Amino acid sequence: MSEPKAQNLTWHAGEIDREARADAHGHRGVTLWLTGLSGSGKSTLAHRVERKLIERGVHAYVLDGDNVRHGLCRDLGFSPEDRHENIRRIGEVAKLFTDAGVVVLTAFVSPYRADRDEVRARLAEGDFAEVYVAADLATCEARDPKGLYAKARRGEIRDFTGIDAPYEAPLSPELSVDTGAESVDASAERVIAWLEERGVVARA
Ligand code: ADX
Repeated sequence: MSEPKAQNLTWHAGEIDREARADAHGHRGVTLWLTGLSGSGKSTLAHRVERKLIERGVHAYVLDGDNVRHGLCRDLGFSPEDRHENIRRIGEVAKLFTDAGVVVLTAFVSPYRADRDEVRARLAEGDFAEVYVAADLATCEARDPKGLYAKARRGEIRDFTGIDAPYEAPLSPELSVDTGAESVDASAERVIAWLEERGVVARA
């Protein structure tokens, strides 16, 4: 991570620390970083987990690829450099939300291992967990919910992940879900069970 451009910066520690926020919320914050091909079901899974957590009174929030690209990252495309900057920004936002005590679910293709590892390194130990949404290319292409694989195959979209741009699968994700083999609810329950086992949220 490079140094900030600005100099003469002084970090200001507030009056409320992580522990005090966790006491106030009844749970601590964490970032669950979902990664997988377009159409693998990241957003669907993230939103299902969010709903189930909110129903339990847990502060949860989804940062979603297509949505964030309308605002925070509207100046970015899909070159490796732009994807790197996309993931870096999301990582910083996720870090802030985590510090604020929120259970963050990020749903970005995030195809480059180095970019994901950089985010992991920016968050404290235990604050970041990689969730591999492991539907294979054939499954995602058959689903093609946005018709993008068809466009990529016709050459109408360049640098499309899985077609003419790489996807580097996680080597040791904290959790792996196969949305081709199990239901959204089953995957969501496994994610929540993981949060319970780590003591992030109380058992239902
Ligand atoms: S990432 O690679 O930088 O992590 P991100 O998750 O933000 O990607 O955006 C991926 C979404 O943008 C896909 O789900 C798809 O809807 C859309 N998209 C448009 N063009 C591409 C492309 N060339 N490669 C991958 N996704 C694309």
